[in-house]
Amino acid sequence: MNHAPNPAPAPATPRRKVFIKTYGCQMNVYDSARMADVLAPQGFIPTEDVADADMVILNTCHIREKAAEKVFSDLGRIRAIKEARPGREMTIAVAGCVAQAEGSVITARAPFVDIVLGPQTYHRLPELVARAERKHGAVIDTEFPAEPKFDHLPAPRADGPAAFLSVQEGCDKFCTFCVVPYTRGAEYSRPAADVLREARGLVDAGVREITLLGQNVNAYHGEAVDGATWGLGRLIRELAEIDGLARIRYTTSHPRDMDDALMEAHRDVDALMPFLHLPVQSGSDKILAEMNRGHTIDDYRRVIDKLRTYRPDLALSSDFIVGFPGESDADFQATMNLVREITFAQSFSFKYSRRPGTPATAMTGQVPEDVKTARLGELQALIDKQLTQFNQSCVGREMDVLLTHTGRHPGQLVGRSPYLQAVHVSADAAMIGKIVSLRLTGLSTYSLAAELIEK
Ligand code: 5AD
Ligand code: SF4
Repeated sequence: MNHAPNPAPAPATPRRKVFIKTYGCQMNVYDSARMADVLAPQGFIPTEDVADADMVILNTCHIREKAAEKVFSDLGRIRAIKEARPGREMTIAVAGCVAQAEGSVITARAPFVDIVLGPQTYHRLPELVARAERKHGAVIDTEFPAEPKFDHLPAPRADGPAAFLSVQEGCDKFCTFCVVPYTRGAEYSRPAADVLREARGLVDAGVREITLLGQNVNAYHGEAVDGATWGLGRLIRELAEIDGLARIRYTTSHPRDMDDALMEAHRDVDALMPFLHLPVQSGSDKILAEMNRGHTIDDYRRVIDKLRTYRPDLALSSDFIVGFPGESDADFQATMNLVREITFAQSFSFKYSRRPGTPATAMTGQVPEDVKTARLGELQALIDKQLTQFNQSCVGREMDVLLTHTGRHPGQLVGRSPYLQAVHVSADAAMIGKIVSLRLTGLSTYSLAAELIEK
């Protein structure tokens, strides 16, 4: 691996070692570094010694002939190493282009592989790792989200003032398309005191922004010091009291768990960023029922209305699945209409894919691939339009931006806006880690340009 080791993780995070082998081009070298960065907040430090690794990532390349064969032969060697040290877990992941192209071949030929992830899903690595650690079967995540992956990754740990903090795992919702309740088990919330301690450690190490993570993060119900149970709204209020913690986010949440206390935290807690990922999945009540989502479109509307009343500057993001079994043209158009009605700043959309062991796999009315592809194209065009409109609406505005790392051009820094947009600005590297007021001056495909506001 070709990059500087990461600094020590926060004290409460267990230390684990990750070995990353990079095949192919410079882009892959860069991606490997980002994967190490994204794992650092989970307590992973790089190792050059595969035999000492708790996690092995093969970051593959598809360009050269026999690339896949080379990966399989390396996997064989790694498996032998893993088996030679019983009692210590080793999570094995295949990333990159071979994974993208041959995900199902890999899990069939090398069932001991825990994670297969395509180049667009690195920002999900922490979640995938945690999932894999509780797994029964392999976790495949090569879906191609609509958004650029880099804007979604946390900044490199070495110079990154933004961190993830896991507060909740597992899921009791059992959406019929989803493997999480089977692979990750029941909902579990970390005790509030652990979360607060870890957050303080991160802030002491220079972190200014924390994203609370969980499969169902707003189902959080952690034990508090006094024996009471805290929901996420209360936890956020307590976190906001930490001196130096300027920004709080959470992901991913479920509409059913948006309780009053959490919505009121959006009203009252300035540090809680005005950007919420709240997946709705479909705009059709019939499909939502088939998905076992446990909410209707009206329930979703009511939550959004209340949040927008509390926080008029709130921007929204969602996940959508198109081509769920039984989805008619009218159901799909209901999704399009919902997107038009709500207006999202960004969204992730996926073609329904059959996940072994989940109820929807066996449902009748599976939608043909070409129909799924056409619907996804139509939805993504709308989502992209709304993303561009949202970004354009920001041009000319002043925003507080957390400067996270240096950009590609000399003298350039990259930061993140309250809405998780990547923002480029000319500024001194000494300003990394600071939150500065910027005027947004222009828009390129995936980022905004800005200038410092002279005060
Ligand atoms: N097919 C397609 N998309 C899925 N997701 C979860 N399971 C499936 C599946 N079987 C999507 C959902 C979820 C996101 C993380 O992945 O939209 O919110
Ligand atoms: Fe749980 Fe989310 Fe999966 Fe539904 S989609 S089962 S809420 S993790």
